[in-house]
Amino acid sequence: MTGKRGYVVTVDGPSAAGKGTLARRLATHFGFRFLDTGALYRGVGLSVLRQGLDPADETAAAAAARALQPEILSDPALRTEETSAAASKVAAIPAVRAAILNWQRDFARDAARSSGGAVLDGRDIGTVVCPDADAKLFITASAEARAGRRVKELQARGETAIYARVLQDMQERDARDQGRSISPTKPATDALIIDTSDLTADQVFERALAFIATKMKA
Ligand code: DC
Repeated sequence: MTGKRGYVVTVDGPSAAGKGTLARRLATHFGFRFLDTGALYRGVGLSVLRQGLDPADETAAAAAARALQPEILSDPALRTEETSAAASKVAAIPAVRAAILNWQRDFARDAARSSGGAVLDGRDIGTVVCPDADAKLFITASAEARAGRRVKELQARGETAIYARVLQDMQERDARDQGRSISPTKPATDALIIDTSDLTADQVFERALAFIATKMKA
């Protein structure tokens, strides 16, 4: 890392593994800008649902991706299980990924220039979106640990959540995200992999910081 053009840190991994918490905390710590790229796919999924169309419909999803408005990214409906399932479907469509790719790269470049750095969290950031990133993290955990965390999150928001159902939905979504031919969820060869199943958020943060420090010195 030379620091001349700013730093890019990527945080990839499956849902509810703790990558969002970590990525936000890293961005705050370093004063970098943060982008939750999953919100972009959720925004596309939600906008297709709101039009009464099928998220698996390639033409409808691609049109929604090209017309994506930033306002939808703060819509509370972005976080429902219905939107999660729709996001996972639109994310498998190449034209949707193509529409979102440049958006993400522009963000990383502008943030690195204007704020000294960017932290992006997602599935393919270290492998496809920012393959030249300075530090890459892959945050994972067992499906059971992740389903348990998701149930707590949903309950905290006042939604009813049944563990077995959440686990099944998560496994279906994992299979779609990991098994798709385009940009599947997988660690970059130069990523640090952290399994958070038995770690606290603080322990994950400390490990990530130690890794990033070695990259910043390099
Ligand atoms: O991280 P999340 O649960 O908010 O992501 C929503 C969906 O978008 C999920 O099914 C994976 C997909 N996604 C993706 O394919 N690539 C990304 N960079 C981020 C998310």
